[in-house]
Order: sequence, then C-alpha cells, then structure tokens
Amino acid sequence: MPSMPADHRPRVLSGAQPTADSYHLGNYFGAFKQWVALQDDFEAFYFIPDLHAITVDYDPGLLRERTYIAAAQLLAAGVDPERSALFAQSHVPEHAQLAWVLSGITGFGEAGRMTQFKDKSAKGGSDSASVGLFTYPILMAADILIYQADRVPVGEDQRQHVELTRNLAQRFNHRFGETFTVPEAHIVKATAKIYDLQDPTSKMSGSAASHAGVVDLTDTRKQAAKKIRSAMTDSGSEVHFDVVDKPGISNLLSIYSALTDRPIAEIEKEFAGQQYGHFKVALGDLVADFVGAFGDRTRELLDDRAELDRVLARGADKAREVASVTLDLVYDRSGFVRPAAR
Ligand code: TRP
Repeated sequence: MPSMPADHRPRVLSGAQPTADSYHLGNYFGAFKQWVALQDDFEAFYFIPDLHAITVDYDPGLLRERTYIAAAQLLAAGVDPERSALFAQSHVPEHAQLAWVLSGITGFGEAGRMTQFKDKSAKGGSDSASVGLFTYPILMAADILIYQADRVPVGEDQRQHVELTRNLAQRFNHRFGETFTVPEAHIVKATAKIYDLQDPTSKMSGSAASHAGVVDLTDTRKQAAKKIRSAMTDSGSEVHFDVVDKPGISNLLSIYSALTDRPIAEIEKEFAGQQYGHFKVALGDLVADFVGAFGDRTRELLDDRAELDRVLARGADKAREVASVTLDLVYDRSGFVRPAAR
C-alpha cells in the first residue's frame, strides 16, 4: 500500500453516543453540521462511543443496532469517510489502553467533581451507578488525547470533561515529558442550539421521557411536521426572537434559521403580522422535507450492512495508525518495558 502523504492540518475529534434509537435534529444542528464543515480545514476523527454506552444499563442487541444507525446517520449528515476517519470506539483498543494509564494520574476527588457523573448517579442512587460511569470522563480524555487532537467540538455540557482532559494532558506532560497536545473545546454557537419543542427551556435530548418535543432523524415526514405544528408556543402572537419571554417561538426561529441558513431577523420580517400557526405550518413543511430526505439516505445506507462494516473498518485502520503511535510513546514514557521486535 502506498503511504499517505503527511497531513499537516490541525486535528479535530468528536463523538456522539448511540444511546437512543436515532439521533435528533438537535444533534444535527448542534454538532454534526459543524463536524461536516470542519472536515475542510482539519484532519478529522469522528467516532461512535460504544464503550461509553455500556456505563449505564443497556441491551447488547440494541447497542449493536444503534451503532449501525449512528454510523448511517453520520454518513447521511455528510461525514465523508474519504476525508475523515469515521469509526466505532471499540474497534480501536488504544482508547481503553490509554484510559487505564490516565486513571493512574486522575484524582478520585477530581473525578468525583464531574457534574455529569453527579447528575446521572443522583438519578438512580449511588448503588446503581457503575464504576464505569465514574471513570467515563477518563475514557473521554483518552479518546481525545490518543489522537493528539487540537479541537474538540462539544456542547456546553461536555466542557468540564474537556477541561479535565486538558488537566490530565498537562499533568502527564509535566511528570513524564512532553507527550500530549493540550486540546481546546470548540463550543457550538447559541443559535445552533435546539431545545425540546414541548419544553423549550431544556435541550432537545434523545433521553427525554417523551419524544413529542424531539424531532428524531428517523421520523417520517408526517411525524416531523406534526411535532413542529404541536410545538409549545408562548403567549402573545408575534413571531419574534426573545429567549427569555418567548423560548418556544425563539426555538422555532432557530430551527428555521438553521435549516435555511438565513438570519433570524430576516425570518421575523417575513412572518411579521402573521399568526404563530402560519409560521409553524411553514416550518413544519421545511422540517418534514429535511427529515424525509435524511431518512431516505439513512435507510439506503442501512440496507447495505456489509458496506457499513467496510466503512467502519477503514475508519478504524486510519484511526489506529495515529492511535498506536501515541500509545507507544505513552507506554515508553510510563516506564513499561517495550516488547522486542521479532
Ligand atoms: N461524552 C460525549 C457526549 O455524551 C461523547 C463523547 C465521548 C465525546 N468521547 C468523546 C465527545 C470525545 C467528544 C470527544 O456527548
């Protein structure tokens, strides 16, 4: 195989958990759209964190199916396997190997201060929370550091995990010599944030109890349009962006703007003097077209599992080329005797 020319672009890395039956509109506008755009100027690594998915109660058959759906939806969103490494985390053993090394320099109290762990474990009681849920952020640090990533596009809720990652990288570098790139979080801008249609002050989330306010990327055209038309709106009647007093309409305006790439002010003008209902019907049609086309592309990809397997295998090969180099260096710096070449 001819060797690839060296890629001197900075590296970007991100992952999205396959914990629901589908990604949703919030994932698309809040994350995947940025991932796709970043492929031009960065050497990109995008993966499905299946190892993270087993830190809470789960069903193996479902996880397998959801991993395929996740892969198909990332491809449908525009992640290009020719340009980026798209892979499943469990295909690259170096993630777990590095996580173990990092766990040796992570403080127990430091890990205990992670607010996502505190929130998630509080929900089910500390007896039902697994050790894996506790060490989850260390595996996430390994995901990032194993590729020497420069930028990590994530939502606000993951900022603390990226901060921990930076601390661990600096600590390791300080104790054992320069080894890791210290990454930076790339937080998505507020207008790309999509909220629950029925509870427009909470983020749209795949783990929401009801999906009435969540547009799943597997929804039919009809389901999607209906969810938009039934979205909770605010008192008043003006189609106007005001997150504090009109979170419902503001969320719909954000979605309209994200789908059309038009500024909010222009959309407000277009619907000036019109009822909420009229605006919702127009947006419902737009969302239905988007989700419909997205679903068609996803189903086509899912129909050829062998091809999806090949895409993921190629992605893992690309990823391991980089990950194995970092792990070798880390093991050497850590004082492990390296096996002799045979
Ligand atoms: N924890 C992230 C989330 O729930 C997913 C994730 C795992 C991730 N490893 C990562 C994101 C590394 C960015 C980088 O959204």
